[in-house]
Amino acid sequence: MPINNNFEKKLKQVLPKIINEFGTPFVLYDAQGIIDEYVNLSECFKDLKYNNFFAVKATPEPVILKLMLDLGSGFDCSSIQELLMVRKLGVKPENIIFTSNNTSKEEFEVAVADGGCILNLDDVSFIDKVPQMPERICFRYNPGSARSGNDIIGDPVESKFGVPDKQIIEVYAQAQKRGAKKFGLHTMICSNELDHEYFVQNTQMLSEVVMRLHKELNIKLDFINIGGGLGIPYGPKDKPVNIAKMTSRIIEVMQDLENIVGYVPDLYTEFGRYMTGPHGVLVMRVENIMNKYRKYVGVDASTNINPRPAIYDTYHKLSVFGKEDDKITEVVDVVGSLCRNNDKLAVERRLPKLEIGDILIQHDVGAHAVSLGYNYNGRLLPQQLLLRQSDVVCIRRKQVPKDMDITLSGGIVGKTVQI
Ligand SMILES: Cc1ncc(COP(=O)(O)O)c(C=O)c1O
Repeated sequence: MPINNNFEKKLKQVLPKIINEFGTPFVLYDAQGIIDEYVNLSECFKDLKYNNFFAVKATPEPVILKLMLDLGSGFDCSSIQELLMVRKLGVKPENIIFTSNNTSKEEFEVAVADGGCILNLDDVSFIDKVPQMPERICFRYNPGSARSGNDIIGDPVESKFGVPDKQIIEVYAQAQKRGAKKFGLHTMICSNELDHEYFVQNTQMLSEVVMRLHKELNIKLDFINIGGGLGIPYGPKDKPVNIAKMTSRIIEVMQDLENIVGYVPDLYTEFGRYMTGPHGVLVMRVENIMNKYRKYVGVDASTNINPRPAIYDTYHKLSVFGKEDDKITEVVDVVGSLCRNNDKLAVERRLPKLEIGDILIQHDVGAHAVSLGYNYNGRLLPQQLLLRQSDVVCIRRKQVPKDMDITLSGGIVGKTVQI
């Protein structure tokens, strides 16, 4: 999805100054865009007790998480490091869901310490592994062959995640026996899904489990969590999700549930990509123009910063700063400097005529982009900046060679064990 009009307008005014002060490359987030996204979604769900638990893995940047925390957001953490990060920001235990999988005993110990969090268990064997059963527990549900998953996340029957349908009543019964008194129910079976109906079906699916738990164990759930996976239109042909339709249909499903079980659980989501994805851009400079069998435009950024095009073959819009209205005359591959031929930020992309020094903007880099970044070839990750009302702040410094232990340690770095 191209960046929104406000972000684009602000960029036009301030980008030269930011480049002058910070150099390139950098990732720039738009604070207002992220704030608006949270506020709009909450407004659409105002008829329910609703909250989004932002998926920290999408944009694990404390300053951005704090923005959301100040608005009232909860947080979905899928690792102990993410959990510790949000705890340090002061997020209350009831606003943290720890949805780990393949979890170790040590990780459970950290998760239940310091006031704990909402533990979201992924397997029946974890019920006895949790050092002490918290008062409130949640389970991740995997519907198996009842749902087909979406193209990106794959088939639930092949997924390593979640409690199978056949075990779902049993896990709550066992947790009750170990002392759990409050319950939640979670699922996560799609990714970057643009069809709003999918989320309605997820809600319907969890409603059916709520009814079974009501009937078989007389359990009343505090909340259902339909997970993340709400998509953004990366490509020119992708259509944005119809949020108004999605939320009104989900509210209907929740009302139907109330008519059957006599109460409405709170509704949670774990949208990550949708909240921050369109509100981040990667800004880079053209370093080389190379005419080979194809025309290559080399920039001062590589796909180690945003690996999505290289690993998923995904499209990200590119714009050329100051040449937005120029005629399209070129078909080029935009490449980085990694020793890998898939290090292409764009393939056979139609762009205006480019020159060395031009500034390229890669859109939709706010989520699951730099957080997927890596240091292959010793390539360093860039600074990350946040555009606010009247300033720009650096929220993560660029990596320096010293951060890469191997370049400086010069040899053995740990203990030696005689064998
Ligand atoms: C458990 C869980 N929740 C939420 C998300 C967030 O997904 P998205 O950012 O696509 O909304 C993920 C993504 O991997 C996830 O695994």
